[in-house]
Amino acid sequence: MKIAVIGTGRVGLPLALAFAESGADVIGIDINSEIRQAVNIDKTMPFLEPGFEEVLQSGKLQIREFIDDVEDIDYFVITVGTPLLHHIETDLTAVTRVIKDLGSKIRKGQTVVMRSTTAPHTTEYVKKQLEAASGFEVGKEIFLACCPERILEGKAKEELLALPQIVGTEDTKSRDLAEALFQMLGVEIMHCDYITAELVKLFNNVSRYAYFAIANVLAMIAIDYKAEPYEILRLTNHNYPRPITSKPGFTAGTCLRKDFGMLSEAYWSADILVSAWRINESMPKFLVEAAKGRWGDLSALNVTVLGFSFKRDADDVRDTLSDKVLRYLHRECPKKLVLQDHLVQQDDVPEMQDLTFTHDLSDAVSDADLIVIATNHSLYSEQRDMLMGRVENNGCRIVDIWDSLGTGSVLLG
Ligand SMILES: NC(=O)c1ccc[n+]([C@@H]2O[C@H](COP(=O)([O-])OP(=O)(O)OC[C@H]3O[C@@H](n4cnc5c(N)ncnc54)[C@H](O)[C@@H]3O)[C@@H](O)[C@H]2O)c1
Repeated sequence: MKIAVIGTGRVGLPLALAFAESGADVIGIDINSEIRQAVNIDKTMPFLEPGFEEVLQSGKLQIREFIDDVEDIDYFVITVGTPLLHHIETDLTAVTRVIKDLGSKIRKGQTVVMRSTTAPHTTEYVKKQLEAASGFEVGKEIFLACCPERILEGKAKEELLALPQIVGTEDTKSRDLAEALFQMLGVEIMHCDYITAELVKLFNNVSRYAYFAIANVLAMIAIDYKAEPYEILRLTNHNYPRPITSKPGFTAGTCLRKDFGMLSEAYWSADILVSAWRINESMPKFLVEAAKGRWGDLSALNVTVLGFSFKRDADDVRDTLSDKVLRYLHRECPKKLVLQDHLVQQDDVPEMQDLTFTHDLSDAVSDADLIVIATNHSLYSEQRDMLMGRVENNGCRIVDIWDSLGTGSVLLG
């Protein structure tokens, strides 16, 4: 079985490596030269995603820039990015480019698997594009499946071999071929049609987005009433069989925020999702206002924001809300504004006037008057005593929406 994975980013590369480990002959295709250099030459992962060191070292996976020799390929798995445009609309530029190129090269008997997350009806669009560009009919001469990725970044190795695989197809041959592909990973296969597969993926993420909005609205209402959100959560959940399972925080990131947009693009009356979006998006501004309400004007303070990636212990900054809290803090004209994140590259931090970026936690907090924990990296919990020492001994204030320091209070100091 020979597989070409097109787009070897955070989804495509772990998948290609998992297929390679399971014995398939795999090539990757990616236009990003840094990814090709990391995998082909340095034999390292270009981003944080543990567990693939051995297969990378083996050199079993090579990544090329273009789809060229297609003759011996059985499966083309498409894992290019599908970001949102500014106006709640999926950007299908990369998908369209790949499908048009592939359509001109595809041979009879080959299968295309859509793995990128897409809005409803995108697989139907891909089918039409493929048929137009190739002159072949899907289901008879070439084959197509929508097999969305549902892994958690940072846990790809574990989840690729454990999560049931949704296989959306509309003809029996595509169905059997897609099933055979994912049987390589030894996972349970669940069959459905294209639209169901697309909606399953989106609702997996959107439901989490809405759950987090519940905790976020609880936090905002509690803080407005001068109550402690974590105390409310503790009491609502203690020995109660129907607990609130989400916690407050900055809810964003390339999957949750984007996938909410994909559903809302297609369904104008998805009000509950729009409300979740508004709640989650307002948390940065709410916390800046709450800090001002508690401690007054921030302009005389040295302010430090801890964490820039969109999630804990990750180096991915796409769609993070940390940059939003930085912008709101910047508008308060603090004496000094510092951002610390030990996992994120300096190049990934947007340029902002008067902003200093550092990897070093001690440096970042040494003269801080106000610390905002924007990402719940485990380092901050590990450094609890040091950070609490700044509150107890130096009069520093901390905004800890994640309860990283385990005090149960969001506004400390
Ligand atoms: N990151 C996640 O945790 C996650 C989880 C589930 C699903 N998804 C979905 O998977 C898809 C990919 O996401 P990602 O996070 O891997 O994105 P990514 O940006 O990390 O990777 C996409 C890759 O595609 C490459 N690419 C773009 N155009 C190309 C072309 N014409 N030819 C070859 N390569 C090309 C890019 O260079 C990039 O390396 C998205 O639809 C995303 O929503 C992501």
